[in-house]
Amino acid sequence: MRSCIAVALAAASSLAIPSPAQAQTSAIAHGIEVKRGSTIMRVTAIGDAILRVRVAKDGVFPEDASWAVAADVRARTAPVRPTANGFATAAMRVAVDPATLRMTVTDPTGQVITSDTLDPLTIEGKSFTLRKAMPQAEHYFGLGDKTGGLDRRGKSFVDWNTDAFGFSGSDDPIYKSIPFFIGVGGPGGSYGLFLDNSWRSWFDFGHRDANVLAFGAHDGPIDYYLIAGPSTAEVVRRYTDLTGKAPLQAQWALGYQQSRYSYMSADETKAIAARLRSDRIPTDVIWLDIDFQDRNRPFTVNPVTFPDLKGMVGDLGKDGFKVVTITDLHVARAVNQGYRPYDEGAKGDHFVHNPDGSVYVAPVWPGPSVFPDFTRTATRDWYGTLFRKQVDDGIAGAWNDMNEPAIFDTPTKTMPLDIVHRIDGDGFAPRTGTHAELHNVYGMQNTRATYEGLRKLQPNERAFVMTRASYAGGQRYAVTWTGDNSATWDHLKLSVQQIINMGLSGFSYGAADVSGFAGGPSPDLLTRWFEIGAFYPVFRNHSAKGMPRVEPWVDGPQHLAIRRRFIEERYRLMPYLYGLTELNARTGDPILRPVFYDYPSAMTMSCDQSMTFTLGKGLLVAPPPKPESPQAYEICLPAGGWYDYWTGKRAGAAQGDVPGPVQSASQATGDPRTRGDVFTAIPRLDQLPVFVRAGTILPRQPLVQSTAETPAGPLSLDVYPGADCRGDLYADDGHSTAFQSGAFLRQTVRCTVTPKGLTLDFEAPVGRYVPWWKQFAVTVHGWTGASTVSVTGRAIASAPDPAAQTASFTIPAPSAATRITIARR
Ligand code: NOJ
Repeated sequence: MRSCIAVALAAASSLAIPSPAQAQTSAIAHGIEVKRGSTIMRVTAIGDAILRVRVAKDGVFPEDASWAVAADVRARTAPVRPTANGFATAAMRVAVDPATLRMTVTDPTGQVITSDTLDPLTIEGKSFTLRKAMPQAEHYFGLGDKTGGLDRRGKSFVDWNTDAFGFSGSDDPIYKSIPFFIGVGGPGGSYGLFLDNSWRSWFDFGHRDANVLAFGAHDGPIDYYLIAGPSTAEVVRRYTDLTGKAPLQAQWALGYQQSRYSYMSADETKAIAARLRSDRIPTDVIWLDIDFQDRNRPFTVNPVTFPDLKGMVGDLGKDGFKVVTITDLHVARAVNQGYRPYDEGAKGDHFVHNPDGSVYVAPVWPGPSVFPDFTRTATRDWYGTLFRKQVDDGIAGAWNDMNEPAIFDTPTKTMPLDIVHRIDGDGFAPRTGTHAELHNVYGMQNTRATYEGLRKLQPNERAFVMTRASYAGGQRYAVTWTGDNSATWDHLKLSVQQIINMGLSGFSYGAADVSGFAGGPSPDLLTRWFEIGAFYPVFRNHSAKGMPRVEPWVDGPQHLAIRRRFIEERYRLMPYLYGLTELNARTGDPILRPVFYDYPSAMTMSCDQSMTFTLGKGLLVAPPPKPESPQAYEICLPAGGWYDYWTGKRAGAAQGDVPGPVQSASQATGDPRTRGDVFTAIPRLDQLPVFVRAGTILPRQPLVQSTAETPAGPLSLDVYPGADCRGDLYADDGHSTAFQSGAFLRQTVRCTVTPKGLTLDFEAPVGRYVPWWKQFAVTVHGWTGASTVSVTGRAIASAPDPAAQTASFTIPAPSAATRITIARR
């Protein structure tokens, strides 16, 4: 039942929105509705910490529909308590001034999470602008795949999916549109804002007016979500509750991936595979770009250069390689040529139309092409069936490229805005929509069709899709990469920032072409890129046609040795990495994160952290912020204590010599475990500083040449004692969906520092999967002197290593809760 809780007379106003004689606020189920002239604003709680704000520009709300937020999520509610000028949930207080529609959201203690400016909304024709205050201390992250550095403050951005070959570090827009950002550092903690509008939209973080965060769109619904933290992690988890978690990828997707535009023949592909094996470069995937197809036609294979694709894929499979092939979304307009995608598509009326009803035809790789109407359920279903042959040939995954969509020979690089798409489902009434409305979701719907098609064709297997374009929520269907970057040091740096911001925007599986797609890297740049790429969530080497080759061996044995060492390290870290992907699938926590994600105090540390990132909470990777420069740089380690990953020794001024490239402590006042540390490091091409949080139990495995190989020997557990000490083990078969019905293993290990030494507590494993490991090789770091190790009271042999400051022992993997004590002798 509605009850009027406040009536206010509007003061004379200079706002562009109507200035009515009377404004009114009403309580509605789970929120409020504020009427001001013909404008109605509705604020509802869909969770204690998530608000949905919708505005009817002309008294009528647009349909309750979304490409990003599923209907059952939009229908969620949370209990609210009416207040004088709004309502409160358990986590937020909402107040709206009916005279201006100005909304303020605070936490329960009154700290402002976000507040509108005095003129919060301008509506001009179909476009709208919303304005929020920008506190001095606040910084902004997210917006998916954008250039312009890590922090969005002071910059403005447009969301319009764009084929941006050779983009620069400041070009905008590029390939994706994720209209979601996170404000960090404000008084009420971190918060997120997601504008669910697929039209061309824009965000201005104090670029035009230093104190105003403005955003809007040229048309479409005023429909946005405010997500409270207070931590950044809580915002990201809630945003991915809203728009969906990325599904757990097959383990091979975490292996090293070798690509090129293009490996031109089966012989060349096999030669590349053979070299990878003979040079002992662990690799999981080889990618085939457009030239494997017949005349660039999607869903075909060149019969001359790849005469037996299935045979080749089978042979490579025996050697531990998966093959992923490109499938661009356009369909060659090959009339009466026996080309199934065109024939079936034309028959089923599956292609988008011109305004006059004819099929839209435009040039892309195959020449004149037509474009599936991916926003239409029947078309997506049909498109998904086209992957049957690829699945039968043993192709492991699909690469959806050019899906902004890219169109050749036109200044806009894409379809005209008046092209007609059909839509249905997702809350949309069956209707047509123009390309202006659907451009930004077109690529996402292409990946949806591909993903769902692959899942239907192989219901028991996980589906791997890589996309270039997407929209918010597209993480449900595809992993992504940053498109056509360049072989420059600036792009190496940018790649880290792009992947961090994508991870904060739901796209946890980020990649950038290692080497840079265009230009050709110097040997040093390529080596550095391998080192840093080895810590990307998805690690793929790819380069453009006509550019120098960039496979790991191209610059001779010395460079190869360094590159191989980092690729190998990634494979040793596979149990940790895979655990992070599984965590991501459950929680939305990104795999690769900004340091402040787990360590908010890092925000105020003095170093240039624009290249620093963490992999999960446990590993901190600190490349030089100016990777092209040999100059010393400072590394900030947040409070809590850290170990050097490479030497295993404690890193920190108060804890003795700092190993590896870290040369001296420059700010060692106070206890670094509580204050954090700042070190000066001197870059060396063969080294990349990596640190482990004190309190981490890191699982690693013996080296393999691909994830298809079962590691020989025990699982290593490196124990780095510290506060909140734990490690999480996860395993499943690595490829099927059986984990969803219990075929997984999860086991938590904790450590506690005691007066005599350390205890290690293994919880009983959960789940029915039997992992490859039978034993754990435990190494306790930061350990000096001899030790007595006992398992549930029974002494076992252990080996102290005073030089390495470790104590090591091997135990059978416990199948029940087990305590191990490590005591100083
Ligand atoms: C554009 C993509 O961004 C690039 O990675 C690919 O190699 C080419 N298209 C050719 O398919």
